[in-house]
Order: sequence, then C-alpha cells, then structure tokens
Amino acid sequence: MDHSATTPTDSQVVDVMLPYFTGMFGNSSSLHSFGREAAEALSIARQQVAECLGALPEEIIFTSGGTESDNLAIRGSIPHNSGKKHIITSSIEHPAVLNTCAFLESLGHEVTYVPVDEDGVVDLVQLEGSICDNTVLISIMHANNEVGTIQPIREIAGIAKKNGIYFHTDAVQTVGKIPVKVGELGVDMLSISSHKLHGPKGVGALYVRKGTAIEPIIFGGNHEKGMRSGTENIPGIIGFARAMTLAEQRMEVDSENMQQMRDSLISRLFDSISHVRLNGHPTQRLPNNVNLSFKYAEGESLLMLLDIKGIAVSTGSACSSKSLKASHVLSSLNIEDDYLHGSLRISLGRENTMEEIDYLVEVLQETILKLRAMSPLSGQ
Ligand SMILES: Cc1ncc(COP(=O)(O)O)c(C=O)c1O
Repeated sequence: MDHSATTPTDSQVVDVMLPYFTGMFGNSSSLHSFGREAAEALSIARQQVAECLGALPEEIIFTSGGTESDNLAIRGSIPHNSGKKHIITSSIEHPAVLNTCAFLESLGHEVTYVPVDEDGVVDLVQLEGSICDNTVLISIMHANNEVGTIQPIREIAGIAKKNGIYFHTDAVQTVGKIPVKVGELGVDMLSISSHKLHGPKGVGALYVRKGTAIEPIIFGGNHEKGMRSGTENIPGIIGFARAMTLAEQRMEVDSENMQQMRDSLISRLFDSISHVRLNGHPTQRLPNNVNLSFKYAEGESLLMLLDIKGIAVSTGSACSSKSLKASHVLSSLNIEDDYLHGSLRISLGRENTMEEIDYLVEVLQETILKLRAMSPLSGQ
C-alpha cells in the first residue's frame, strides 16, 4: 500500500521488454538492421506515449525518469547566457523540483515558493501576484505525492499563458490515475515517470509542447533531437510505453476501484479511531491516496508496526533521536502540532483488494490503541 513510492512492474510490461535485452539489443542510432529494428521500436513507443497524452510524437523526450524530466524542464528553461531569471513554484513540490530550484538560486536566479492552503491547494492570487518581468517559468505539480491534492492546473496554465510565461507540471503521480491530456491542461511541459504506473524504473519522459524554447542539460551524441543525449534505454522505453497504454486502457475501472477502497478505508477509520485527521483536499485528491494523522501516535512507530504485520505504507514524519521532523508538505498545510508527527500515507494500487483494506483497518485499530496506551500524552 505504498504505490506512490513505486509499483510492481506489470507482467505484460516485462514480456514486451524481454526481447530487447536479448535478440533485439541494437543501438537505435546504428544504421544496420539491428539498429533500425531498435529505432523502429523506439518510434512506436514514442507514438504510444504521445497518444496517451494527446501529444505529438516529436513532443516526447525520453529521460531517466521524473527527476530528470523535472530538471530538464526547469534548468532548460533558464537560457544559459541570460541574466538573472525568476521561477515560480510551490512550497509542496517534490524534491526533484525544489532542489533544482535551490541550485538555480545558488547560481543567482530568483525563485518564489507560493504557499498552499490547509488542503494543499496552491494560492492562485499569490501565484499571479508574484509574476514579474523576469519570470520565465511556473512549475506546479499536478498532484502532490504525499497528500494527494490535485492542483487547478488549467487555471494556472491560463495565468501563465496570459503573461507569456512557460508552464511546467510534474504529473508523475497523476498519469495513469486521472485523465492527463496536455491540450486540455494547457501545459507547455509535463513530467512523467514509468515506475509509478507499473512500468520499469529508471525511465520516463518530458512532454515539451512544439515551439517551446528550452535548452538541453545533458550533452553528447544528440539523441532525442539533441534534447537528451545518451543511448536510449530501449527495453525501458518499450516497457514504459506499454505500461502507459495499459494504464490508460484500465484507468476508469482501476481508479473507480481504488477510489471505493480509499473512501471505505477513510470512513471506517474515522468511525473507529478517535483523534484522526485526513490530510490533503477532501475531494480534489488522487483516487489512491489516503494521508492520515493520528494524535498521540508517532508516524515511524506506526510504519514499523504495520511493516511487521506485512503492510507497507509511508510516513511524512521522520523520527530521529534529537528531533521529530515533519515533511515540508505537511508543515506547509498548517497542521496542528499534535497531529503533525503521527502521519501515514497509504497509497493504493490496482492489485489491492477490499480484503486487504479490511486487514489494514483491523491492524491499524490495534496498533493505534497499542501506541496510545504507551504515549505519555494520550492520558489513556
Ligand atoms: C511528484 C514526483 N515527482 C518526481 C518524482 C521522481 O520520479 P523518479 O523516481 O522517476 O525520478 C517522484 C517520485 O517519487 C514524485 O512523486
């Protein structure tokens, strides 16, 4: 139940990848038949990924995953020979965005981190108000990986367009779970990661709208039209394209199932456990995300006790001997201190079942009781 961290690779995906490790191992840049075979497969994969997004094949740049796609979108948007530039992002982005922005700040560029409200929604008034003459890019994630809040991407795209600024979204957590069509969203760039949608790890893509002027950040043999040099990971890309096509075909049914499990889990936990809060937006959230905070229970202890029972989840609060540090996302939501350190992210996947939800509810009830009985703060 930690699918936002990663997902099992679908067996159909593994099947289509295998031949590209053995008989069809060619380098897609080679001119002989082995190379042409690989180039043909790469071209089909590009078409498949583009089709899922409603994009053109030439608008897809294959990368090593979400982190690289975010880096390319953000660093590539700052022309290397220009003066001081300004980027707008949010306070709850993934480290792939935040640390890229921090690096650019260290080079002298400016970054505005727009705050979010208690549900994790970006403040659009502050976002628009922070635009200045030097602003070159707005980068706001489609949905948050910790609390699952889905951002008003179309509205943000409208603001960016009105002001002549490029708009990038990190859609790593949404592709395959909710509809992601680049035309409808109005984005200029969009990051995807294969391993979040039952594809292999270490591969992904950046969608770049035709005509968007960005520069590469990796130089070499001009692969991917010079935008991302380095021999393409053909087996990975083939698997990624298959995973995306499968996710797209199954999305309606899978998301409906995950949403039912999600809602059942939330209501049963609220009925049976006191002092619990749901983090993130109550309705505008990923169909597979449940992020809860429990008063008088510590997140890491909860995680370890669930692990012993065979349940994998994650927490947004890390315990060290000296301090309890809540994640930057939870800290941005203005959650009461009492709740901040007992958070749990449960992220469902398409192979989870209602029986597993029953088991999770049962184990969580017991575990919370046990931890609260030991807590000096609970008074129980
Ligand atoms: C929102 C978001 N962006 C980017 C990434 C990084 O993706 P990758 O693991 O493919 O580098 C992740 C992975 O956790 C993510 O959740």
